[in-house]
Amino acid sequence: MLDKAGYEVVELLLLPDEPEQLKSQLIRLADGRQVDLILTSGGTGFSLRDRTPEATMEVADRNAPGIAEAIRYKSMEITDRAMLSRGVSVIRGRTLIVNLPGSPKAVKESLEFIMEPLGHGLGILRGSASECARL
Ligand code: MTE
Repeated sequence: MLDKAGYEVVELLLLPDEPEQLKSQLIRLADGRQVDLILTSGGTGFSLRDRTPEATMEVADRNAPGIAEAIRYKSMEITDRAMLSRGVSVIRGRTLIVNLPGSPKAVKESLEFIMEPLGHGLGILRGSASECARL
């Protein structure tokens, strides 16, 4: 989906449910590699091991809650269980970080909902798009 939308996927990482490892990878990707976008998948639920949103918030400088809100809101049309994802969306520097749920089905659904406005938001974050020229 990302390839099709014109993104270059520069890294794919598989990490254990370990918040410190996730935080250090998020910081490396945002500050070191300066990627535009980090998508995480999984660790957003209610199990005691699910700490992705907390790790993500700890590395954030700004909140960008609308993306996570849209994912939950639109996903609720597919399954009520969408309310069980605690995923967040935040900004660190010029990098947008979005938590997606863990199942491939949920990832696909979530990305479909956000793909178009995501591109616009990233353009603004990177300074290559004027702010909301269209409605
Ligand atoms: N969102 C969408 N679009 N589709 C889904 O199937 N599954 C939900 C929810 N969000 C789902 C979804 C379920 S069942 C759970 S438990 C939570 O995401 C958390 O998933 P995670 O713990 O794998 O991150």
